[in-house]
Amino acid sequence: MAIIAVLDFGSQYTQVIARRIREIEVLTRIYHFTTPAAKLADENVSGVILSGGPASVTAEDAPRPDPEIFNLGVPVLGICYGLQLMSTMLGGAVRHSDRREYGRGMLKVEAANSPLFAGIPSDSRVWNSHGDKIDQLPEGFIQSAATENSDFAAIEDRERRFFGLQFHPEVSHTDHGREILENFLFKICHCEQNWTMSGYIEKSVNEIRNRVGDKRVILGLSGGVDSSVAAALVHRAIGSQLTCVFVDNGLLLKNERANVEKLYSDNFTFKLKIAEASDRFLDALAGVTDPEIKRKAIGRVFIEVFEDAIHEIGEVHFLGQGTLYPDVIESVNIAGNPSAVIKSHHNVGGLPEKMNLKLLEPLRELFKDEVRALGTELGLAKEVLWRQPFPGPGLGVRVIGEVTIERLDVLREADAILEEEMFQADLYYKLWQSFCLFLPVRTVGVMGDERTYDNVIALRLVESTDAMTADWARIPYDVLQIVSNRIINEVKGVNRVVLDISSKPPATIEWE
Ligand code: XMP
Repeated sequence: MAIIAVLDFGSQYTQVIARRIREIEVLTRIYHFTTPAAKLADENVSGVILSGGPASVTAEDAPRPDPEIFNLGVPVLGICYGLQLMSTMLGGAVRHSDRREYGRGMLKVEAANSPLFAGIPSDSRVWNSHGDKIDQLPEGFIQSAATENSDFAAIEDRERRFFGLQFHPEVSHTDHGREILENFLFKICHCEQNWTMSGYIEKSVNEIRNRVGDKRVILGLSGGVDSSVAAALVHRAIGSQLTCVFVDNGLLLKNERANVEKLYSDNFTFKLKIAEASDRFLDALAGVTDPEIKRKAIGRVFIEVFEDAIHEIGEVHFLGQGTLYPDVIESVNIAGNPSAVIKSHHNVGGLPEKMNLKLLEPLRELFKDEVRALGTELGLAKEVLWRQPFPGPGLGVRVIGEVTIERLDVLREADAILEEEMFQADLYYKLWQSFCLFLPVRTVGVMGDERTYDNVIALRLVESTDAMTADWARIPYDVLQIVSNRIINEVKGVNRVVLDISSKPPATIEWE
């Protein structure tokens, strides 16, 4: 299958470029910018895209690709930093400019018959975010489009099939970005449209069957999108050789376990093993208030419980996981591109080596939106595929401070009311997340004629597209009022509800 290679120079938009190309049904993969040209040749790439990035090509330590990529004989498209790289590496000159050009610009296509701009109006809006400017074009290139601030908004060397764009075709604010990418893929690289989820199922089912043979697979089901789709896909391939394990850690939402059981008895015939372990988790959390220690404790007990479940099942060779593509892309660390660990996320790290299990990760190639499309093809319900994210450590990080069964019960009841009202107001699927937190403070209230001294519930309602940034959701006051009234009236032990109005950054979505 034809592949388009996207070389990553650390742009916040690199993954967006790849997703846009996949939407056009062409396979693309993201490669670290240091990837040797010979490796790309081995993978039979039919075109290379150089991403944007936070660096300046005029800096001494500017990240550069293997120069041999320009000798692969395939088309190259440089976007933003990628265009400037192409210009400098092929003999042109780029000047550092202190004034950055951000936001919208009007693009004027100037070259006649440019294949990149075929069918695109001569004037259209584009999205810019760059500082440096081309001073002198490399030999063989012509200018093909301009904006009011930049003469070299697009350049090309049609003979060698090298193209450069100063603006970002991958973002939705660029009017004809998709058509520009389609022109690059079809008119210039001659790709075929063959990346579809039905094709992916067929290929993946064959690969899983070949790899697993007659061995057994175990998969930890959380009830979330990724593990559910991974389970459905592995099940399609090997049926009853798959056993799913659902760990009931006592940190689940109300009815979560029953929902998972029902869902799977309705949809599948794979074996589902429920590992009841609430006590083990609560014991490990007793007296712990530090968020990182809580997270580590939950992760550790999870692995222990999972290990025990495997022993009970008998001989197992593979551990299935719903790992997604964004988790496996090698990150590019360039100044201006923060990637420090803020919270330790929960997974089964360490288990495969210890138990001598091979990893089976059938979603490793896919973005989240592709996983949902795949799940739809496999027949999973909307309620599973469009569920809001739920953190691995569950309510353990939503009971702030010490986790006790009483606090968990209060939180579960409050959260169930919020969820019900979010569905009622048609907001559940519109928000990235909407959930309650239990705060470790008590405040005074008055109910009837009685003084109360009870707990506080906080509401966290956020909008986001990828959880990297988020803003608090401006939902109608009327809905907030219903939620607050219901929680205070219906949940015993709560006399106050507060609303979190912090964005991420500087806050995070979860509180711990
Ligand atoms: P933060 O709180 O870092 O959360 O803004 C970003 C997104 O990640 C979810 N989250 C987790 N997901 N394991 C997960 O699978 C975890 O340990 C974890 N911690 C946070 C969070 O709900 C939000 O969607």
